[in-house]
Amino acid sequence: MNVREISANFAGMIELGGELSVNRLGFGAMRLTGEGIWGPPKDRQAALAVLRRAVELGVNFIDTADSYGPNVNEELIAEALHPYPAGLVIATKGGWNRPGPNQWTHDATPAHLRNAVEGSLKRLRLERIDVYQLHTPDPVVSFEDSVGTLARLNEHGKIRLVALSNVTQEHIERARKIVPIVSVQNRYSFADREWDYVVDYCERNGIAFIPWFPLGAGRVAGQILDQIARAHQATPHQVALAWLLKRSPMLLPIPGTSSVNHLEENVAGTSLRLTAREYEALSRVPQLAATR
Ligand SMILES: NC(=O)c1ccc[n+]([C@@H]2O[C@H](COP(=O)([O-])OP(=O)(O)OC[C@H]3O[C@@H](n4cnc5c(N)ncnc54)[C@H](OP(=O)(O)O)[C@@H]3O)[C@@H](O)[C@H]2O)c1
Repeated sequence: MNVREISANFAGMIELGGELSVNRLGFGAMRLTGEGIWGPPKDRQAALAVLRRAVELGVNFIDTADSYGPNVNEELIAEALHPYPAGLVIATKGGWNRPGPNQWTHDATPAHLRNAVEGSLKRLRLERIDVYQLHTPDPVVSFEDSVGTLARLNEHGKIRLVALSNVTQEHIERARKIVPIVSVQNRYSFADREWDYVVDYCERNGIAFIPWFPLGAGRVAGQILDQIARAHQATPHQVALAWLLKRSPMLLPIPGTSSVNHLEENVAGTSLRLTAREYEALSRVPQLAATR
């Protein structure tokens, strides 16, 4: 791919709740922690550099969570970028506890969420969080109680826009009876399409869909990706991102990386335009994989 300028502007824009506008390629900050998403990153200066470079490249949507580190990820974002440039949207999440590396335990009780929001406000040095996502429904807490708590925090001015993560369409419909939902964050890629129907639902209802783990590619996926990547002199990662950007105007990918080189490569990928044929070939990957 022959890219003269690297900018997230080439991804186009998306509106969140009719209130905020961001470029349609964001940055997932989770990787900027220690192993097992625990503790500080090995190289703090490098992690700060990745965040600053993302913003320089026009990325104005950063995804994080109180559970990344825990706390470390939000603190790093504030250290790298506060005072925040105008238009930068930080989306954080709550609803997990972290007893240790690679361990995640549910807690979306109203009391936990209220404390979590206070903690995130402090660490991010914000008076109001632009986008706050329920990280995942808690199986032993009423979903309505979790969402209702976020709705009240929205009324009290602590949260500007409420969002969900790891949910079904039924969850979204139930949540929307309580408060407007601006985005949904589920695992999704061209090769990992369990949530296709949620993407379609979000598109019909003007809700942003934020795919995490955008490169869930197996063997078949790899062959087709490589072929298309070679045709564009691009990398497989860039092709996978280009598929997501073409899949729906409501998709807002947040590829994560701890490397400035990978970040630049991912942002440069927003200039790649797949042909209809290439898009279809990648779209057929899950069926192909199922028949082998
Ligand atoms: N809501 C949820 O439950 C949930 C769950 C997981 C993640 N997330 C969010 O989604 C974001 C993205 O998900 P993810 O980080 O799990 O998956 P991802 O973006 O699909 O992949 C990240 C991995 O790919 C590598 N990578 C990134 N760009 C690359 C490139 N150009 N070339 C080669 N390797 C590259 C990174 O390694 P290097 O560091 O070496 O580049 C990292 O190991 C996270 O940061 C987080 O904000 C949310």
